[in-house]
Amino acid sequence: MKIFSGSSNPDLSRKIAKQLGCQLGEIELSQFSNGERRVWIKEKVLNSKAIIVQSLSYPPDSHLMELCLIADALKRQGVKKITAVIPWLGYCIQDKVFRPGEPLSSKVIAMILQTAKLERIITLDSHNQVIEGFFDIHFTELFATDTLIDYFKTQKLNIDTIISPDVGALKKANRFSETFDLPFIVINKKRDRKTGKVSIASVSDKVAGKKVLIVDDFISTGGTLIQTAKFLKEKGVKKIYACLTHHFYIPGVQEKIEKSQLDCLYVTDTVQTLEKKYQKLKVISIAKLISDTIRKYEKI
Ligand code: R5P
Repeated sequence: MKIFSGSSNPDLSRKIAKQLGCQLGEIELSQFSNGERRVWIKEKVLNSKAIIVQSLSYPPDSHLMELCLIADALKRQGVKKITAVIPWLGYCIQDKVFRPGEPLSSKVIAMILQTAKLERIITLDSHNQVIEGFFDIHFTELFATDTLIDYFKTQKLNIDTIISPDVGALKKANRFSETFDLPFIVINKKRDRKTGKVSIASVSDKVAGKKVLIVDDFISTGGTLIQTAKFLKEKGVKKIYACLTHHFYIPGVQEKIEKSQLDCLYVTDTVQTLEKKYQKLKVISIAKLISDTIRKYEKI
C-alpha cells in the first residue's frame, strides 16, 4: 500500500500515513511555466495499491486536475487499484439546479473523477448525501460527527443547548442533542441568492442565559456563523461555540470570526489548516477516521 499526497493537504496526508504505519510515497509536484500542473511519481509502484489524498480546496480546479494527473501517472506505472481520499469534495455544494440556467456541478465533478480510473472515493460530509448517486464507482461518505462528539466528551464546556443554524444541519444537531441529552433549537436563517448575504429571522425557543453549541457542515464566507452568533448574543446567550467539518479558510474569514460574538470555532482538518495560530480556532483531526476506513476496505 502506497500513500501519495497531492499538494492540497500535506499535513493530513502525513497523519493518515502515520496512523497506517507507512511512509508517504515519493512524488514531485510542480507547475509548468504556463501554470499547468506537473506530476512525477518517483518510486516503484508496479502491482501495488495506491491511496491519493487530495482535498478539492482552494484552488479547486487546480487540485482536481492534479488529482487526475497523479492517478494517471500511477496507472501508467502499473498500480493495480487507486483509492482517492477527497476530504473536501469540491463542487458538492451545487447539488441541485437552484435556478434554471445553472449546472448540476456535483454531477459534473462525479463524471470528471470517474474518468480518472479511480476504484474508490472516500470523502467526508459532502453537503448532501444524494450525490453518492452521481457516482458509478465505490463511493464512501464519512461523517465527522462522531469524531467531534468524542472530542466534546473530553471537554468541560458545560454546553446546555445545541443549535442548528438551518434545516440542513438538523440531522447533525440531533445527533449531538441525543448523545449529550441536550435540547436543540433551530434558527430560521435566510440567504439572499443574489448577494449571498445571510440574515437571521427568528429562533425556535428561548435562549437567554444559555451556553450553546452551533453545529453545521462548513464555513465559507462566515456569514452564517457570524450572523447567528450576533443574533444569539442579542437574545442574551452567555457562551457561543460552533463546530463543523470543513473550513475553507477564505482569506479574511477567520479574522472576522476572531472579531465576532463567537467564543470558539472547532473544525476538522479536511482542508489544510492555516500556519498562523488563531485564538478562536481549534482544529480536530479526522486522520484516524479516514485511516480506520482505509484499513477496513484494504483489510490491513
Ligand atoms: C448551508 O447550507 C451550509 O450548511 C452552511 O450553513 C453555510 O452555507 C456556510 O456558508 P457561509 O459561511 O458562507 O455562511
